[in-house]
Amino acid sequence: MLPSVSEHDLARLVDAARAVRQHAHAPYSKFRVGAALLDEHGRVHAGCNVENAAYPQSLCAEAVALGALVAAGSHHVRAAVVVGESPQAVTPCGGCRQKLREFAGDDTPVWSADPQGWRARHTLGELLPASFGADHWGPRP
Ligand code: THU
Repeated sequence: MLPSVSEHDLARLVDAARAVRQHAHAPYSKFRVGAALLDEHGRVHAGCNVENAAYPQSLCAEAVALGALVAAGSHHVRAAVVVGESPQAVTPCGGCRQKLREFAGDDTPVWSADPQGWRARHTLGELLPASFGADHWGPRP
């Protein structure tokens, strides 16, 4: 059973992800991505991909949005929306799935949309099954 996220909050998330996508710095891939996260206070945090001439230094939209969420003092992701234009639904890359997992649960919904509409809904547990987290190792005495 997915934790409920209202239609209103979903609309806020997709609006934020679409808007921030316009600011993507993607001169190399030309693939613009926007991400928006709903936190435990009902606030929305957004990020776009930020590429770099030294390619591996690039940042994904989800990572930038997570940084904004944590910098705002939040600690939990209730829902995520990723917006990109592709023949397939744009889902977070493997690294971003793990980054999201730090602040979200297996049941957290991750929605994919494109500029025209919704494409897919997964849970984080579907995207990153049998995942590793702090509960596996810590805290140590
Ligand atoms: N990208 C994201 O920002 N998020 C995703 O979910 C998929 C990929 C970015 C990374 C890179 O800037 C560009 O899209 C092409 O991979």
